[in-house]
Amino acid sequence: MEIAPSILSADFSALLDDVKKCESAGAGVLHIDVMDGHFVPNITIGPVVISSLRKKSGMIFDTHLMISDPGKYVSAFAAAGSDWITFHAEAVKDPLRLIKKIRALGKKAGISVNPGTPVSKIRKYLKQVDLVLVMSVNPGFGGQKFMRGALPKLRELKKEKNNFKISVDGGINFDTILNVSRAGADIAVCGYSVFGGGGIERNIKKLKKLSEMSKGGINNGGSD
Ligand code: DX5
Ligand code: ZN
Repeated sequence: MEIAPSILSADFSALLDDVKKCESAGAGVLHIDVMDGHFVPNITIGPVVISSLRKKSGMIFDTHLMISDPGKYVSAFAAAGSDWITFHAEAVKDPLRLIKKIRALGKKAGISVNPGTPVSKIRKYLKQVDLVLVMSVNPGFGGQKFMRGALPKLRELKKEKNNFKISVDGGINFDTILNVSRAGADIAVCGYSVFGGGGIERNIKKLKKLSEMSKGGINNGGSD
């Protein structure tokens, strides 16, 4: 499983240093949380920050749009250097149209579901998307507690699995990562557990190692 550090919990006064530490720990995907103070109660990062980082990092930029009108901004995020652009199913009327728009910009398209939104709501788009992002907290803030209701959704998506990657976001730490790995996630977004202390590189390596316990040893085949 891939660990995607979420820079929401990074030190923004030394953002590039933190990103470089993620890269040197072997993380290939950087999760970037975009919030508009409307779809969620918080305000974070816009295209200008992404384009600055783009000049200095070769990581895949996994852009998570927690905004009310994603269709209006996907071109700006594509131009800024986002690689994957994920919008929320709850925020748009016509997801298929937006998926096509993101792909026409040459980017991978992702769809995300809040904890209260069932997989059935996005089932008809699963053949079109490159990524499904399952929220395991209510979006808006880092450092929240993992909601176990994400686990059956991951299993359900794994069964449906076609060509898309399954990602999970919120409350993933040393205690919860094995659960999401076993449930079928390909990518674990980790904010506080990477940047919250103890060393970024060490944390990423530890999360990766813990996620791989699902492949063998005494934990293989266990329940949640
Ligand atoms: C929450 C964001 C997450 C957040 C995860 O709305 O989408 O990406 O950074 O942070 P942790 O891992 O601290 O829950
Ligand atoms: Zn996120």
